[in-house]
Amino acid sequence: MRKAIRNDIHKMRAFVRFRRVMQDDIEQYVAWYRPDHYILGANERFFVERFGAMHWAILTPDGSLVWDTQQVRYGPGVPRSEAPAEDELEDLWRAYYASIYNPARRNLDAMRAQLPVRRWQDLPESRLIPELVRLSPGRVESMIDARPASASEFIPRDADLPLLREAVHHCRACELCALATQPVFGEGPPDARILVVGEQPGDEEDHTGHPFVGPAGRVLDAALSEAGLDRDVVYLTNAVKAFRFEERGKRRIHKTPRAAHIAVCRPWLEAELDAVKPRRIVCLGATAAQSVLGRTVQIGAERGHLLPHGSGAEIVVTYHPSAILRAPDAGTRTELTRALVADLTLARL
Ligand code: URA
Repeated sequence: MRKAIRNDIHKMRAFVRFRRVMQDDIEQYVAWYRPDHYILGANERFFVERFGAMHWAILTPDGSLVWDTQQVRYGPGVPRSEAPAEDELEDLWRAYYASIYNPARRNLDAMRAQLPVRRWQDLPESRLIPELVRLSPGRVESMIDARPASASEFIPRDADLPLLREAVHHCRACELCALATQPVFGEGPPDARILVVGEQPGDEEDHTGHPFVGPAGRVLDAALSEAGLDRDVVYLTNAVKAFRFEERGKRRIHKTPRAAHIAVCRPWLEAELDAVKPRRIVCLGATAAQSVLGRTVQIGAERGHLLPHGSGAEIVVTYHPSAILRAPDAGTRTELTRALVADLTLARL
C-alpha cells in the first residue's frame, strides 16, 4: 500500500497538465487530475515550490487545491466535465513531447509502464503516440541522414569540464548518442597531467555513465597501478562518447566505431584536451590514436616512444586493455600486458 501511494504521488507530479485560463485579468493555470489515492495534500508542497509564482488550481474528483502565490486553499471535488477544456498549451505539450520522443528508443512496454494507458485520455500528448510509433523507423533513418558533419556545433565555446559534461547530453552530431543509454564523458582531475583516451564506452559504461568501469577498466586499473599510477590522478575519456553496439537477442555486442564516428566526435575530445591541458596523452588502441593523431596508426609499430602533439603535450600510443582480454593465449596476454605497463610507465611524469 505504501509503495502504491508513493507511486501515485510521483505519477501525479509527472502527469498533471495545467490549462491556462484568464480570470479577472489574472492568468490562472487549472489542471484536472484523477489520482488513485487521497494524495492531494501529500503533493501540496511539491506544486507550491515548483509553481510558486503562478496562480493555479489542481482539481480532483475528491478535492481541489488552489494556490494564489501567497497561500493554499482546499476546496471540494470537481467532476471532469467541469474542468477547463483544451487550450493552446495542449499544442505546446504535444510539440514538446514530439520533440523529446526518441524514435530510436521506442519501447512500447516501457512507454505503457511510464504513461499508463488509463491516463492517456487526460494527457494531451498521448494522442500522438500511435503516429509517432508508426513513424519511428523512418525518423531513425532521417536522424542518421540529417546528422551534421561534426559535434562542434553542440559544444559551448570556452566551456569548462562541468559544462561540457552537461552539453554532451544534447549532442546529436551522429546517431550514436540517440541509440545509447547516454553519452559517457571523461572523468578525472580537471588539471590532470596525464589524459588517457580509450575507444568508446562499453556496455557497463553505457549503463552507469562512467568511463572504464567494466572489464577493460579493471585491466586498465591493474596496469596503471603496476606502472605506479593511481587511477585517481589521470583523466580518463574516450575518442567516441557513446556506445556503438549491435543487438543480438537480449545482448548488446560492441561494434568498433567507424572513422566517421571518430571524426564527428573528435571536437569533444579536443575540448577536453583544451580544458585539462595534460602533459601526456595516452592513446589506448587504434581508435584513440586515430582520433588524437588524425591518421591511422599501427600500435605495434609506433608504441614505446613519445610522439609530439600540437598542444606541446607528448603522446604515447599503446594497446587497448580489451586486446588483453581478447588475447588468444596466455603468452600473448602476458606480452600485451607487459607492453601496456611499459607504455604507461613511459607516460608517467
Ligand atoms: N573501453 C573503452 O575504450 N572505454 C571505456 O570507457 C570502456 C571500455
